[in-house]
Amino acid sequence: MSRGHTPTIAVVNQKGGVGKTFIADELAFWCERHGVAYAFIDLDGQGSGLHGTSDEGGDDAAEVAIVDTPGAITDQLRVALTEADAVVVPVRPSVDDVGPTERTLGIVEEVAPDVVGVLAVNGRTRFLETREFEPDVERWAARGWNVFRLPQSVLVPRARRRGESVVAFAPRSKAAEAVEELCGAVVGEVTGHGADEA
Ligand SMILES: Nc1ncnc2c1ncn2[C@@H]1O[C@H](COP(=O)(O)OP(=O)(O)O)[C@@H](O)[C@H]1O
Ligand SMILES: [Mg+2]
Repeated sequence: MSRGHTPTIAVVNQKGGVGKTFIADELAFWCERHGVAYAFIDLDGQGSGLHGTSDEGGDDAAEVAIVDTPGAITDQLRVALTEADAVVVPVRPSVDDVGPTERTLGIVEEVAPDVVGVLAVNGRTRFLETREFEPDVERWAARGWNVFRLPQSVLVPRARRRGESVVAFAPRSKAAEAVEELCGAVVGEVTGHGADEA
């Protein structure tokens, strides 16, 4: 039986260590909390994620597919991008990340011009480095990227060590609030679930 096109969210950035796997896992946890059937596709295969690629049987019922990707834009990844309905680009607010992020956004804009683009500024919020990064964020927002912000928090690695969402681990934290908002908006946008809150 053909399932047609499952709404697909790809989490992408050429840069490693920006939070791709963290956010892909949190998208899956959001679906678990909100009763949305999902398929998880790990194109990275480093095994650092809390979710692995779903069985094929699971795909049939999936209302959304979540794709975690490696820190390199391969041909396989370009194909995955053309099939995506939303692309989340996590970025660390550091001037070192501007170049790789600019290239990543350019590739997404080229191969998937109609995609819902989300820029997840992931990390520190109070430091000089962050303020120097702000003009780039504004430039990307003006190009149509929807900007969300996640705080740097020790709760993230602590939750991950326990194999949990930061929302389950520390429900009242700022990190949990930001994760819930980002994931709800992105899954809601592609599936219609939780659109009230999004
Ligand atoms: N907002 C955050 N606060 C604290 N640690 C974070 C945050 N986001 C990611 N991390 C940590 O940063 C590291 C890299 O994240 P990861 O998701 O593996 O990046 P990527 O998949 O882009 O290489 C992990 O140890 C993760 O737990
Ligand atoms: Mg990763």
